[in-house]
Amino acid sequence: MAHPESVHSEVKPKILYFGTPVVLISTENADGSFNLAPVSSAWALGHSIVLGLGEDGHTLSNLRSRPGLTINYPEPHLWEAVERLASLTGANPVPKTKPAQTTYRADKFAAAGLSQQSSVGVRPPRVKECGVQLEAKVSGISPSASGEFAIVECGVEKVHVRQSLVIPGTQHIDPGRWEPLIYNFRHYFGLASPTVRKRRAGASSRTGTSSLTGASRRSFSQTSQLPLPAGMPHNQSCDSRIPRCFRRALPGAVRDSGP
Ligand SMILES: Cc1cc2nc3c(=O)[nH]c(=O)nc-3n(C[C@H](O)[C@H](O)[C@H](O)COP(=O)(O)O)c2cc1C
Repeated sequence: MAHPESVHSEVKPKILYFGTPVVLISTENADGSFNLAPVSSAWALGHSIVLGLGEDGHTLSNLRSRPGLTINYPEPHLWEAVERLASLTGANPVPKTKPAQTTYRADKFAAAGLSQQSSVGVRPPRVKECGVQLEAKVSGISPSASGEFAIVECGVEKVHVRQSLVIPGTQHIDPGRWEPLIYNFRHYFGLASPTVRKRRAGASSRTGTSSLTGASRRSFSQTSQLPLPAGMPHNQSCDSRIPRCFRRALPGAVRDSGP
């Protein structure tokens, strides 16, 4: 009989959100105030970040006229602030294509309970509470094949990182300290303790296991030695073959409606 781990079923999921970091995008409104919106379709291409933005979003309309933006990476404890922004738009009137629960809000920083921090080279502010903040300018906007989204390429001009996340004396962000908020099938996740670390050829030796210190950044040579992630009850089994043990779901952090 085939081992259950090697059997696949064909399924038709409604969404394909396999887990990406959440970013908060700050853009400038026509009146000089600022908008803030959560986005999970954001990925790095060299020194650009490519965003997938809904055509009916106020963020996209701002970026078509004013190309400066900040891209802010919240950590897992900020998931509720992200969620407070989920049903808000800076578009007034609210476009009919937005989900029914969407309401207009002029000051989304205040609505989320987040603070503005002045940027250096672009008008939109950074989100002070975020450990990683990028200043960027739009370098290209293309329509997606479906016409529902725009693919927005943003050239990153400055990278601001909370000092405690930088490996001292280097330009490197410490991957053992940095923890993104992950949007995984409309559930929010943090990362659990890092486990086996394989260093790619060419990667900085400072990011290898030998540089890790501190109780939450232990490394293990075998998956069977994995620790329980923070917050996981000790009576919950930790089967080394199941990725659940590598991750940490945030309590109550589930969305039923999404972008
Ligand atoms: C976690 C999360 C991820 C989201 N990802 C995206 C995304 O990748 N692209 C997008 O256009 N909207 C995304 N949304 C929805 C927008 O945040 C939402 O449409 C919001 O109203 C946009 O605000 P705006 O109209 O002021 O730009 C996401 C929402 C949440 C809560």
